[in-house]
Amino acid sequence: MNEKIHLPELTIKTLSKKSTITVVAGKARALSTEDPDFVRADIGELCAPGLFPPGYRESLEETAKAVLKEGRIGYTVPDGDNKLKKLIFKHSIPENLRDLILEQFQDDAKKQGIDFEKYKEDNMQKHVAVTHGGTGALGASVSTFLTGQKNLVLVNQRTWQNHNLIVDMHGGMIWPVPLINEEGKVADPDSILKLCHPVKDKIAAFLFTLINNPDGAVVTDPGEQEKLETIIREIDVPMILDVAYHKLVFDGKEAQPFSRDILCKTVVCGTYSKTRQIPGERLGYISCPDPRVVRYVYFYNRSHSGCPSVTSQRALIAHFMKYETAPDEIKEYKENLLNEIETRRNILVDKVKEMLGWEMKSPGGAIYAVIPLPVELVKEFGDVDQFSIDLVDRGKVSAISGTVFEFRVRPKDNGYEVYTPAPTDPEVSYLRFCFGFTPTDRIELAVKHIKEFISNR
Ligand SMILES: Cc1ncc(COP(=O)(O)O)c(C=O)c1O
Repeated sequence: MNEKIHLPELTIKTLSKKSTITVVAGKARALSTEDPDFVRADIGELCAPGLFPPGYRESLEETAKAVLKEGRIGYTVPDGDNKLKKLIFKHSIPENLRDLILEQFQDDAKKQGIDFEKYKEDNMQKHVAVTHGGTGALGASVSTFLTGQKNLVLVNQRTWQNHNLIVDMHGGMIWPVPLINEEGKVADPDSILKLCHPVKDKIAAFLFTLINNPDGAVVTDPGEQEKLETIIREIDVPMILDVAYHKLVFDGKEAQPFSRDILCKTVVCGTYSKTRQIPGERLGYISCPDPRVVRYVYFYNRSHSGCPSVTSQRALIAHFMKYETAPDEIKEYKENLLNEIETRRNILVDKVKEMLGWEMKSPGGAIYAVIPLPVELVKEFGDVDQFSIDLVDRGKVSAISGTVFEFRVRPKDNGYEVYTPAPTDPEVSYLRFCFGFTPTDRIELAVKHIKEFISNR
């Protein structure tokens, strides 16, 4: 059997994509089962024992029993159960987006002479679609806007690796720019607009992460938000707003809300993977003031995956019902979760400074921190990819090298290509440390391991 399927060049190119994330995670999985001292800070997941979303577990048990009894479980409609859509609208989408849609409802109900409450009840599900996690939401959004003519998606040059993959797999290309730094400071609008100028007519959408992975960058300052909004207005394309870490902002701060005119052209992509610690349940959502964008998900889901898991949808319904029946329990749950993550962040930043003597910025939100590595130190290992691999192999800590999260663009042939800076480039000389997955009492141990690893090199 020597005959092989002929694969197109583009498929081969996709198959050849490599990432240190896969190498580090593979090694970490094996080593952490052998060595109880090993600390995993590579996985982008939240693990806060005892803080499972109220109502969720009970529903899973109920559904399991019912499924076993009935011997079957059916579909929901492809873009999710109506009851869940309504609950997401009421309790989960960003407040200012909800307010905007409700104002639209007021006007429409008045024009049509219908009671507002009834109009609201009948229409809110048109503004939410349930997706296969945040990834499903982002895929559907990107697919809504990409065309042959407009195939670029503007992103921050430091971003979640899968943003690049999602855009690429939908036939587009990211256009990375240095938009926002890890302290939530936005670049001068003119400098960004200049970088977009050569391709302005080809930009289909702007993908912005409210709280960034890998550095937790979040705009909390109104002045910075103003700069961001100036850029968005000038680019004048729909914004895909990735709110995967919605509300996970520290120091009592909050992400700045977007102005009305911008929200009108925004598609919010949410997920329950992080904020409810249920990544394996694959539940996310899209919400948009324009119901046509939401309706598109019906077709997208039908063609890509079918309806999201019904057991998970039922459990999320049960969780959101608690918002109505047990608001105090929900409030406490949210506070405890945020406190737990914030405590971990504080320990990490303090210990890195105290034990390693390295300057690092305190991330504003999410579950990750960027630990800058001294360039001279990295050189001794060859490059930052090798540093992260050696750290797993010999240092009992897994964290992801900066090469995974940095994107740049350069001219190629008659167009452009996206690339990642070389692992020797000082701009990628850092580790993304995920404190969401590392238990609180092991953060210090991780830093101790890094110190020993460096001392014994
Ligand atoms: C910034 C960001 N957006 C979206 C997602 C999507 O999450 P999921 O598809 O697992 O729900 C992630 C996951 O790591 C993320 O970091």
